[in-house]
Amino acid sequence: MVYLDNAATSWPKPEAVYSSVNRFMKTCCANPGRSAHQMARVSSNIIMKTREALASLFNIPNPLDIAFTANATHALNMAIQGVLRQGDHVVTTVMEHNSVLRPLWHLKHKGLIDYSIVMPYDSCGNVSPGSIAGAIRPNTRLIVLSSASNVTGTILPYKEVGEIAAEKGILFLVDAAQGSGVLNFDVQAMNISLLAFPGHKGLMGPQGTGGLYVAPGVEMRPVLFGGTGSRSFETIHPEFMPDVVEAGTLNSPGIAGLGAGVQWLMDVGLERIREKKKLLLESFFGAMDHIPSVRIYSERDAGKNSGIISLIIPGMDSSDIGNILDKKYGIAVRSGFHCAPLAHEALGTMKTGLVRISPGYFNAVQEMEYAAMAIRQITGGR
Ligand SMILES: Cc1ncc(COP(=O)(O)O)c(C=O)c1O
Repeated sequence: MVYLDNAATSWPKPEAVYSSVNRFMKTCCANPGRSAHQMARVSSNIIMKTREALASLFNIPNPLDIAFTANATHALNMAIQGVLRQGDHVVTTVMEHNSVLRPLWHLKHKGLIDYSIVMPYDSCGNVSPGSIAGAIRPNTRLIVLSSASNVTGTILPYKEVGEIAAEKGILFLVDAAQGSGVLNFDVQAMNISLLAFPGHKGLMGPQGTGGLYVAPGVEMRPVLFGGTGSRSFETIHPEFMPDVVEAGTLNSPGIAGLGAGVQWLMDVGLERIREKKKLLLESFFGAMDHIPSVRIYSERDAGKNSGIISLIIPGMDSSDIGNILDKKYGIAVRSGFHCAPLAHEALGTMKTGLVRISPGYFNAVQEMEYAAMAIRQITGGR
């Protein structure tokens, strides 16, 4: 199997991730933050180490401002539903995933909030910071922006938008689902108030992991209520980090694996990760030059692309192409709509969808060349 579906979940993982999960399960899988015995303390320490590794990666001063979640969707819901109040307005873009669009739609449908959705200006899904600034109203409390589109890989202007948000005193939520593990995030320098990230994509952790950073001073209300191991006699769920987000027992084995993934990432360095992705993208794009009939919706310049090539062969449905790649060539990609309906509407691909090819650090150039050869054969040489 040639695995080119890393934008959905990265695979394979660094060896240290497998061994960390295994070791944790076998030796210290007690409940962290609840009991005070020796095994629970070891478990708590490992959870804290993962918080510290993430804090170092994102330049977060206090690791306790990071809460663990089950995935990016969970983190985005906690952020959106936790900070918005009756009468608030939100600015976001058509390039967002349903894990942003659906919670916003839900709050709007309940009559609580309103939002404006900004359009991209080209077929790669680029969005201008000026159009985001232009959508701000006096009651805008929050701007939500993906760091990179999961449909096209286009890196969105989160640095510039952070400056706009800070200038206007508006909260800024970054969906780092596609950017984390590839792009630089410095929550302090980039004025990021809330950073939602999955653990199972670029951060190399297991599925069932993710997290939310909440900047000091951001008023979060709980969305999920329950045990936190703190203030047990109070009926009100704690409103301090990380307990406000972390109701119930954590996915400790997964978080142990995530810690190993983040440590591996920092040892390799984001620069090397980006260089490898550049090499893989360029080898594929080079091969595509000889197949003019294929329509590509991703930036060729790797500096503008988080690591995705989305394409369609005119006259074919993306799911048929995905099926042929899987069954005939043993290549795993994601075809369809990528949970981003508005992006596909804006790009004009809502009838066929797109084939999304997303290599990871462990892919080889030869695998990209093989995928390009398979696409060429599927086009029938057109
Ligand atoms: C941009 C973006 N946001 C959010 C998500 C949701 O992530 P998760 O599957 O971890 O909930 C994804 C998943 O693909 C994504 O690409």
